[in-house]
Amino acid sequence: MQPDTATAYGTVSRILHWLMAAGFAYMLFTVAAWSYDEDYFSLIDNHKSVGFLLLVLIVLRLLWAALNFSRRPHGNLLVKLGHLALYALMLAVPVVAMIRQYGSARGTLEVFGVPLVPGAAEKIEWMTQLGGQWHGDLGWILFVLAAGHIVMAVVHQLKGEKIINRMAGPRR
Ligand code: HEM
Ligand code: HEM
Repeated sequence: MQPDTATAYGTVSRILHWLMAAGFAYMLFTVAAWSYDEDYFSLIDNHKSVGFLLLVLIVLRLLWAALNFSRRPHGNLLVKLGHLALYALMLAVPVVAMIRQYGSARGTLEVFGVPLVPGAAEKIEWMTQLGGQWHGDLGWILFVLAAGHIVMAVVHQLKGEKIINRMAGPRR
């Protein structure tokens, strides 16, 4: 297991980054599918399960980032702000969804078929409104920001700065 260093992310950071990137790609797939044809709203249980898993992973990732902050690669201010915005949205989007889930009094949330998170006994208006207002919009903003992040990583790589090597490939 490699630790984070000033020139490359270590094993745990890489696993969290790529596992979550795959998770968010799946989230985009589900919302794109039901935006295209509402019959695909049948994917909502999977959306909730993977979304809950992403919430657990982002909490671990934030702790890991804080613990390793001083030894990680450091970009300029814009890069730092970009990563900060991604972290904030990766946390806020599922948190707001879980608040709505609880307040909508739909019973216990099943995560991959396992009853896990209880719901309120009666509907709690502010919780459902918070989710209704913010979850979808913030989710779309997250997808746009992530797309910008990917484009910038590829642009820097092509310009010869080899930035993707920090998150993939051999460590020097
Ligand atoms: C973790 C990352 C998540 C992302 C990126 C995400 C993203 C999104 C987006 C973009 C939409 C709007 C789709 C549209 O415009 O039709 C949406 C809808 C929805 N999401 Fe999520 N979601 C996440 C997690 C969750 C979780 C944890 C739950 C519930 C436990 C949830 C429940 C819902 C529901 C019920 C809808 C349909 C109602 C609405 O549009 O707000 N999501 N999600
Ligand atoms: C093909 C997809 C992706 C590529 C090629 C990619 C590439 C990279 C690279 C090269 C870094 C290191 C940047 C640096 O140190 O300056 C990085 C870090 C980061 N990426 Fe991505 N990324 C991808 C997908 C995503 C997605 C989907 C998200 C979030 C939704 C994301 C969030 C982050 C964050 C928050 C960091 C900071 C370090 C960390 O917490 O792991 N990335 N990414």
